[in-house]
Amino acid sequence: MEAKKERVSLARDKIYRLKGPAMMVLTKGRIFALGRELTSREKIVVPRSRILCFKTLEDSEVEIVVGSEGSFEEASSEEEVIDIWNTEIDRILDSKVSSVLVLGPVDVGKTTFCCFMANKALAKNYSVYVIDADIGQADIGPPTTISAGRVDKPIFSLRELKPKYMAFIGVDSPMNVKERVIAGLKLIYEKVMKYEKTDIVIINTDGWTQGSKAHEYKLAIASVINPDAIVLLQKDTPELDNIIPVLRKMSKLFILPSPKAAKARDRYERKMFRESSYLRFINNLKLKAVSAEKCPLLYTHLFKGCPLNDDEKKALELHLGARVLYSEETCDRVIIIVDKPIPREKIEELRALYGKEVFIIVKGYEKGLLVGLLDKEMLCQGIGLLEEIDFDTKTLKIKTNVSSDPQYIAFGQVKLNEKGEEIGKFRDWFL
Ligand SMILES: Nc1ncnc2c1ncn2[C@@H]1O[C@H](COP(=O)(O)OP(=O)(O)OP(=O)(O)O)[C@@H](O)[C@H]1O
Ligand SMILES: [Mg+2]
Repeated sequence: MEAKKERVSLARDKIYRLKGPAMMVLTKGRIFALGRELTSREKIVVPRSRILCFKTLEDSEVEIVVGSEGSFEEASSEEEVIDIWNTEIDRILDSKVSSVLVLGPVDVGKTTFCCFMANKALAKNYSVYVIDADIGQADIGPPTTISAGRVDKPIFSLRELKPKYMAFIGVDSPMNVKERVIAGLKLIYEKVMKYEKTDIVIINTDGWTQGSKAHEYKLAIASVINPDAIVLLQKDTPELDNIIPVLRKMSKLFILPSPKAAKARDRYERKMFRESSYLRFINNLKLKAVSAEKCPLLYTHLFKGCPLNDDEKKALELHLGARVLYSEETCDRVIIIVDKPIPREKIEELRALYGKEVFIIVKGYEKGLLVGLLDKEMLCQGIGLLEEIDFDTKTLKIKTNVSSDPQYIAFGQVKLNEKGEEIGKFRDWFL
C-alpha cells in the first residue's frame, strides 16, 4: 500500500519521534530538532532505520508521509533526551571549549549528538568543524576514512558536510588498524587547527568500547586530541568505566544519557549504510594510470622487493603449472602473480622451500580493490577502485574522480563494485 500524506496538528511543548522511512514538512508553528529550529516548509527526510526526535515550541502543524516500516508517535519526556542534551550542550558551549570529543558505545546517538551540538554552536555564530573518526559508519567522507567538514548552515545529518580534509584508513573497523586511525585523526585535527579559523571542533568516534584494547585505543585518541571537553554517551550499562577517572582528570567530562528509543542497527543495515556512502564518492569515475615507481604504495608489500631471476621463475612455473607474470622477494615474503589458481598444497611446499611467507595471487584478483589517493602531506584527495595492475610497467590503473596527481597510493582491505557494493574483504596487508 502506498504511503499517504497526512496533515497532523501537534500541541506545544510535546516531544515526538518520527521513524524512517518518513518525510515531514512544517506548515505552521515552531519545531526544534537536532539543536536547531526547522524553517517553515522545510522538508525533512528520515531514512529507513533512523529516528528523528523533535519538540514543538508552539502549537504546530506538519505534513507527514510515513513509509511501511516507519512510524510517528508522541514520546514521554522521561524516555527522550532532547531537553537534557539541549541544556548540557549550552553548559558545554558556555564553558568556552574549543574541542569536544564524543565517545560512547554503538548506537547511543554519538553522530546525532555531534549534529545537535554543531547546530547549537552554529546558532551562537561559532565557526564549527566536525571531524568524523568513525571509519565504519563515516558520514562526512566515505567509509574507511576520517574526514573533517565545516558546518556553514544548520544540518540534519553530518552527511551534508563536505570533506575538507580526509585521511584514508582503508578498513571499516578500527580493531586491527588502531595506529592508522590515531595517526589519521591526528593528521586531520592538526590540519583543521592549523589552517582553519575555528571556534569549536567536534570529534565523532566509533562505537568500539568493550574490553581493555578498546579502552586503551580510546585513551590514545583522547591523548592525541587533548580535548577541552569529552562527552561520554551511555546507555544503562556503563562502558569505558575503567578510563573514566583518567578522562575526567585530563578534560571536562560530561556523561550524558543516550535516547532509550535509539534503535540498534544490525550488520545488514550497517553494510547497506556503508554501501550507500561509498556510492556518493565513486561517481563519474575516470581511468587514471599511476606509476608505483613515482607513487609509493602504502599498506601493501607489493613492489618493495627484488625480482626473482629467470631460472627461479622457470622453476616456479614448472612447480606451479602456471605462468608467472610477476614475482619478487623481500626479507620476509615472496609475492608471485600467476595466470590461474594454484592448489593450496603447492603453495605450502613453496613456503617450506623459501622458509618465508609466499603470496600467490591470480592476475585480475586486484580488480575492485578500494584505494586512497594521497597528496604529499598524506591527506586523501579521494578514493578509487583499482581496475588493474600492469605488473610489467608497475602501473596501477585506478577508476577515480580525483583529477590531481597523487603522491602516494594506499591499499584498502575492501573490494567494491561500481555500485558501491562490498564484494570482498581482506586481512591486513593482504598483498
Ligand atoms: N532522540 C532519539 N530517539 C530515538 N532514536 C534516536 C534519537 N536520536 C537518534 N536516534 C536513532 O538512534 C540510532 C543511533 O543513533 P546514532 O547513529 O546517532 O548513534 P551512534 O552512536 O553514532 O551509532 P554508531 O555507533 O552506529 O555510529 C539512529 O538510528 C538514530 O536515528
Ligand atoms: Mg555514529
